[in-house]
Amino acid sequence: MDLLDLRIYPDDVLRGKCEPVEKFTVLEAEILERMFLAMRHYGGIGLAAPQVGILKRMIVADIGEGPVKLVNPEIILAEEKDSMRERCLSLPGVEVGIERSAGIRVQSLNEKGKEVKLNIKGLLARVIQHEVDHLNGKLIVDYLSLSEGIKFYAAEEKKEKGKNAGKNTF
Ligand code: NI
Repeated sequence: MDLLDLRIYPDDVLRGKCEPVEKFTVLEAEILERMFLAMRHYGGIGLAAPQVGILKRMIVADIGEGPVKLVNPEIILAEEKDSMRERCLSLPGVEVGIERSAGIRVQSLNEKGKEVKLNIKGLLARVIQHEVDHLNGKLIVDYLSLSEGIKFYAAEEKKEKGKNAGKNTF
């Protein structure tokens, strides 16, 4: 099975809006499995479909308590907040402190296309919120404070310029 390519910021696909899966078939089951293998390969505890170039509402996670594979996940209830520093496979070297719900209720299809409602707490709840953000084109850098954000985008701009330097630069 070919490894899915990891998309890295500023790849446009990371800002795309994912479409819901209308019908769960063997293809979706296969994509979930391949996303899971990619997540393992790249060393993440969560991965969303756009990170491998697929604009569909599908996410996978494993915080060491077993695989979680969700299709069309909706967070229907969120509890009180806590804060933690997060990193993202698609943004190497970036770490952002983010306040999120400590517990969530999720309505979704599972890896067999069956409807499930899950109550999730702690790290897994955080990972799922991070991945659902990806499905909406939202990235951890969108949580930076204004001053942190200016620093980040200035550094990105510099990288971009560095890439073109010398190549008919004018
Ligand atoms: Ni991420």
